[in-house]
Amino acid sequence: MSYPDDLRGLVDDALGRLRFSAAAPTAGLEGAMRYSLLAGGKRVRPVLALATARALGAETECFLPVACSIELIHTYSLIHDDLPAMDDDELRRGLPTSHVKFGEDVAILAGDGLFAEAVRLFCTQPGDPARVLAALGELAGATGVDGMVGGQYVDVIGEEEDAAGLRTLHALKTGRLIAASVAVVLILEGLEEPETIPYRRFADELGVLFQIVDDILDVTESDEQLGKPHGSDERHGKLTYVSLFGLDRARELAAESHAKATAALAEASGRTDDLRRVADYIFTRNE
Ligand code: IPE
Ligand code: IPE
Ligand code: MG
Ligand code: MG
Ligand code: MG
Repeated sequence: MSYPDDLRGLVDDALGRLRFSAAAPTAGLEGAMRYSLLAGGKRVRPVLALATARALGAETECFLPVACSIELIHTYSLIHDDLPAMDDDELRRGLPTSHVKFGEDVAILAGDGLFAEAVRLFCTQPGDPARVLAALGELAGATGVDGMVGGQYVDVIGEEEDAAGLRTLHALKTGRLIAASVAVVLILEGLEEPETIPYRRFADELGVLFQIVDDILDVTESDEQLGKPHGSDERHGKLTYVSLFGLDRARELAAESHAKATAALAEASGRTDDLRRVADYIFTRNE
């Protein structure tokens, strides 16, 4: 089974249509935002959102505002993650990183701008306003202190040193935004417990799997293959699944995580084939 390229195409087209600046003085900022956003990227998070809509029998295209909003947040996180004060990386999505191309000041603002524009875009999502608000709350929570930003903090502080701490780090830093990509669509569609439980279990595990594989690829792949510098984690002495368990055990743990995710998905009602395809892709990818 392969990645749902039709959904990826929808996302890429919609992202390409997004414009942020209406006036000349800020055209350069928009240029920096679109440079990182349109540089490529696997679009895993928005594709997951659309695949969730498909699983629930909803029209996928209706969910493009929230799907793209999540990709804007993800792109902002990459720009800031690469800054000299963070991972200090110079290659992203196969191109020079934002701060290398535009300078640190503009890169910081491009990230800030993407975050704010993500919220604005999310608010254009059609549907019951109470559900849109609840879904936005879910996404903000997944991005904030008990989510991605908190996970980045735990990562840079570097005090975790055991398996439980590492799993928490991955669940926050990467897991919650990936899980939110599924959860916002569950909320917008008004799905309630107990139907949501297998979807949420699937999405939580998938998020951790994603970062385990990211840790493995950082060691096994080349810059060209990844479109970002390999060996970045080791250079910074980061705690990763590979540094803690070694490559072979990390691969086994990824396989266990993939099995857990797909077992959860098997319990979900609906047409879940595309979600399964995304899970298989996340496990077997080499990019
Ligand atoms: C990289 O994310 C950062 C992590 C959370 C591991 P992706 O691997 O999804 O990066 P793109 O979007 O494809 O560039
Ligand atoms: C970053 O994790 C996750 C984010 C929230 C941006 P990494 O630092 O491992 O991501 P890459 O490997 O640079 O993409
Ligand atoms: Mg990092
Ligand atoms: Mg990094
Ligand atoms: Mg990494």
